[in-house]
Amino acid sequence: MIYFGAAYYPEHWPEERWPEDIRLMKEAGATVTRLAEFAWATMEPVEGQLDFDWLDRAIDLLVENDIDIVLGTPTATPPAWLTQKYPHTLAMDEYGRPAQHGLRCHYCVNSPEYHTLSRQIAGAMAQRYGQHPRVIGWQIDNEFNRICYCPRCQARFRRFLKEHYQTLDELNTRWSTAYWSQKYTDWEQIPFPSPTSGHNPGLLLELRRFVSDSYRRFQAVQIEALRPHLRDGAWITHNYMGWFDAFDHYTLAEDLDMASWDCYVRTGHHDRTTQAVVHDLTRGFKRKNFWLMETQPGHVNWASINNMLNKGEARVLAWQAIGHGADAVLYWQWRSAYGGQEQYHGTLIDQSGRPRPFYEEAQQLGKDLAAVADLLGGTEPAAQVAILNDYESRWSMSWQRQHRDFDYVTHLLNYYRPIAERNVPIDVISADASLDGYRLIIAPVLLIMDEKRAQALADFVKAGGHLILTVRCGMKDRANALLSARQPGPILAGIAGVEVADYNILDEPVPVGGGWLTGQSHQWAERLNVLDEDVSVIARFGKSNGWLDDQPAITVSSGHNGLLYYVGAYLDEEAQDVFIDHVLKTAKLKPPFDTPAGVEICPRTNAEGKTAYILINHERDRKVVSLPWKAQEHLGKQTIDGTLDLDAYGIAVVTKAN
Ligand code: GLA
Ligand code: ZN
Repeated sequence: MIYFGAAYYPEHWPEERWPEDIRLMKEAGATVTRLAEFAWATMEPVEGQLDFDWLDRAIDLLVENDIDIVLGTPTATPPAWLTQKYPHTLAMDEYGRPAQHGLRCHYCVNSPEYHTLSRQIAGAMAQRYGQHPRVIGWQIDNEFNRICYCPRCQARFRRFLKEHYQTLDELNTRWSTAYWSQKYTDWEQIPFPSPTSGHNPGLLLELRRFVSDSYRRFQAVQIEALRPHLRDGAWITHNYMGWFDAFDHYTLAEDLDMASWDCYVRTGHHDRTTQAVVHDLTRGFKRKNFWLMETQPGHVNWASINNMLNKGEARVLAWQAIGHGADAVLYWQWRSAYGGQEQYHGTLIDQSGRPRPFYEEAQQLGKDLAAVADLLGGTEPAAQVAILNDYESRWSMSWQRQHRDFDYVTHLLNYYRPIAERNVPIDVISADASLDGYRLIIAPVLLIMDEKRAQALADFVKAGGHLILTVRCGMKDRANALLSARQPGPILAGIAGVEVADYNILDEPVPVGGGWLTGQSHQWAERLNVLDEDVSVIARFGKSNGWLDDQPAITVSSGHNGLLYYVGAYLDEEAQDVFIDHVLKTAKLKPPFDTPAGVEICPRTNAEGKTAYILINHERDRKVVSLPWKAQEHLGKQTIDGTLDLDAYGIAVVTKAN
């Protein structure tokens, strides 16, 4: 089944009110609720005095209404007595100032005291509810996000470096510390700067690795406290924040059973591809289906303009998440609290305790999901195209952009968008993941290149795969130092049959053209040297700064079973569309069937190979879709022979009729 529900905070309300809240939940068709992730002060009002009775009663009431439970460990919001008694659990900012109580995630992630206290509360919750048949999953903390600069974290960082580099000689060499007299003669001399400080590139990359490692250990403390008490089948997750990049999500996700994320449109309206790519990103963390742990019921309270989504738009968002592999959609939050920092956030039940107009839209989703529970249960998306994502390359690039507008995610989207708009499914996976089973791999700005990565990509092409390397690929090693060879590094230059003679940062776009491709490159241009005869030049730079004039910009090498495109240009949208169209056709990658523009097809397939197609009209006018076969439509329960009508923001779930 696909779960549907909301985050609910019974601790905000007098107990007499719970039955009505939960009745409305049931009436909306909710099948799950998330509880307790900010309730530490209610579960442990005084140190060591646990009170779970209220939570027992809330859970009982939910279960009576046939609603399953996800429990959150409450470590994002420690109680005030804890902060008072253990002030050293507070995080410090860059200037050594401790955080304030009453916000969130204000703990030092490396505090042994906080580890102990977190282990105790998570363990106590798991002892109480780990075997509960209706507690189906656990969320650790809530949206990890900060860096602590306290003396303990600094000391740990130096220890981390020592473990990694063993000797200062090694560290000094890898970080080129002769530069500006940075040479360290004692581990204690190594600073702990902010990631935006413009410090040594090697140091900054290690700092991000250290932050990732710190959260991974904090998360592991809680996993170890929970796991022994959990019944078989109960999963553990953490709710991530999309493209947020303070830590490496792949390493943290390794220890979880499932990934989940919190999806908010913020200001304005949804954009089909910018939402879709994050679902694909999150699915890539564990390379399997995920949960949409939070999403916005209409509007948020923290964007620059907290506008309401259009009627029907949230329904589109929910189905798109499901289409990309979400096995649950939970709104945040069920009911508006009278006080607290989020009074103005969208909810399903307002301050008067009555359903808001949005409730009806959610109820429709509940009904629809019940209708396709059997059909979609156990299905998942499958893709033959993968885009590689790499946090280290992203960090490295972002610290040294060279062009203020060069943004890692925007550049990645320049590849994702034309493929997604053609309804060709895409996986977004770690640059270190297995590449088996794909026909086309795109490595946008895979800046950090080591032998293992390069070899895996080379092997992929040798086995017949099609690979695109883009601008800024293969420039640096794992210590964020420039490689001693030209881009894209020795192994890949051998397969690509090109090397980058020079990169030019562009203040003005330059023309790019060839037989079937004309357009412009903006921000960045790489002048390519062709090294061998299996290479065709697809496009050259036009007249520009003299250095680039008439030089190869995009090439393809066909000498190794597969194809390797080297794209030394950052193409404008139109030219990119033409280029990607060519690449997809050459790789024989097609959508399941044609649709009018604005209609997305999301296939989900089960283990027996049976596919359900979720059709989504992202636009506000009616669309007519011609289906290539006789179909069953499962929301309106009708047989379709020929064309299917999709209303504004309309959704259909179809399978081939037998
Ligand atoms: C985040 C948090 C929630 C809530 C929402 C509001 O995603 O996890 O607790 O604050 O934002 O949009
Ligand atoms: Zn700290």
